[in-house]
Amino acid sequence: MASYMLISNANELITMAGHSDVPAKQEKMSEIGVIKNGSAWLEDGKIIAVGKDEEIRKQFHDKLAEAEIIDATGKIVTPGLVDPHTHLVHAGTRENEYAMRLQGKTYMEIMNAGGGIHATTRATQAATHEELYEQAKKRLDQFARHGVTTVEAKSGYGLTLEDEIKQLEVAKKLDEDHVLDIVSTFMGAHAVPLDLKEDPDQFVDRVINEMLPVVAERKLAIFNDVFCERGVFTPEQSRKILEAGKKYGLIPKIHADEIEPYEGAELAAEVGAISADHLLKASDKGIEKMAEAGVIGVLLPGTAFFLMAEYARARKMIDAGVAVALSTDANPGSSPTISSPFIMNLGCLNMGMTPEEVITATTINAAHAIGKAKEIGSLEAGKKADVTIWNVPNYLTLSYQYGMNHVDTVVKAGRKIIVGGVLQ
Ligand code: NIG
Ligand code: FE
Repeated sequence: MASYMLISNANELITMAGHSDVPAKQEKMSEIGVIKNGSAWLEDGKIIAVGKDEEIRKQFHDKLAEAEIIDATGKIVTPGLVDPHTHLVHAGTRENEYAMRLQGKTYMEIMNAGGGIHATTRATQAATHEELYEQAKKRLDQFARHGVTTVEAKSGYGLTLEDEIKQLEVAKKLDEDHVLDIVSTFMGAHAVPLDLKEDPDQFVDRVINEMLPVVAERKLAIFNDVFCERGVFTPEQSRKILEAGKKYGLIPKIHADEIEPYEGAELAAEVGAISADHLLKASDKGIEKMAEAGVIGVLLPGTAFFLMAEYARARKMIDAGVAVALSTDANPGSSPTISSPFIMNLGCLNMGMTPEEVITATTINAAHAIGKAKEIGSLEAGKKADVTIWNVPNYLTLSYQYGMNHVDTVVKAGRKIIVGGVLQ
C-alpha cells in the first residue's frame, strides 16, 4: 500500500524550484520560491506536488483520509539541507590545539610541528572500523538534528591505502545503514605523511598509483579532492592528482586558497573541478576563471570564524557569476561544528550574503556541488521527499536568530526522523 504524507499549511514553504538543471547564479540565487500557506504532498518517499494548502488538499482529496498529516502552521518548510563538504569520518578531537591557537599559535604551525591533520591521522589510523563508525554515526545524528539530510564525506585521515579505504568503507556502510545519505570523496592528498616529509613526490606517486586505482575499482568515491596549500600540496602536484583521478572517472574537487593565495581557484577552473572549496584567499583572476568555467564555490565560513581568519569574498564571487554553496567543513581542526544553520548566519553576517542566498547555498547549490541536484535540494515533483520544518515564522528569522537550533521536524525520504527536535 502506498504511503501518503501531507505537510500542511506552512507560513512559508520554500521550494527552491527551477534550479535543478544549472546551479543558481547572481540574481537567480535570490529566487527561492516562497509559497505562503504552502503544503507538500508526498508519496512513497517522493515529492508529488507542492502548492497552496487549499489547492493541495483539493487535488489529493480522495487520499487525504489515508495520509499522515504534519501541521506546519506558523512554521517554515525548506528542502532538507545538503552539506557538500565534511570530514565526517575521523577519530577524536583536538581541543588541545584550540587552546594553543588561543595562545597565538597558528593552524599551519601546529600542523608543521606534527599536530593538526597529522594528529587526527594518528588517531584515525589507530581506530577500528567499528570505532570510526560509531563516532561518525553520532555526527550524522547531529547533522539530522540540525536539518541536514545529505552530507558529503571525505577520507584523508588515513594517508595509507589501507586506512584511506577504512575511512571510505565506514562512509559506505553508514550510507547503507543510516537514514541520511552520504556522498563520498577520496582525499588521500590531505597531507603529506610525516615520514615522507622530505619526499612529497613519492607520496603523490602513491596517491596516484596505489590509492586512486583501488578507490575507483571498488567504487568507494565519486570525487577526488586535494589540499592545495603552501607546505602541503603544490598546484603542480594537485593538478597531477586531480588529472589522474579524472582518468578513473573521479570528479575533481579542491581545497583551494584556504590559508594563502596559491592559485587554487585558477587550478579548479583549469582541471574542470565541480567545486573549489574554502577560497578565503582566492584572487580576482581566480574568481573570474571559476565563473567562466562554471566551478561552484563551496564556502566554509565556519573555518574563517574558527581560525579567526578573513572570510571568503562571497559577495564578490556571486556578483562575478560564481554559483556559491555553503558548508560546515565539519572536522576536528579548522571547523568543529555540524551546524549548517550557524553557517547560514555567518554567510549573512560576515560574507555579505542575503538571507535568500544562504538558503540557496545550503540547498540546491549544495546539491549541485555534489552532483545530486536532480534528486535533492528542492521541493519539486519527482524529487526525494527530504524536508525540514523549522520552528520560525519566516525564512528571515532563520539567519537572524543565531546560535540556536530551530529544527522542528525532519522528513527523510518520506519518513519522519526528527520530531519536535528529537531524533526518532
Ligand atoms: O578543510 N584544510 C584542510 N582540511 C580541513 C581541516 C582538516 C583538519 O584540520 O583536520 C579543512 O579545513
Ligand atoms: Fe575541508
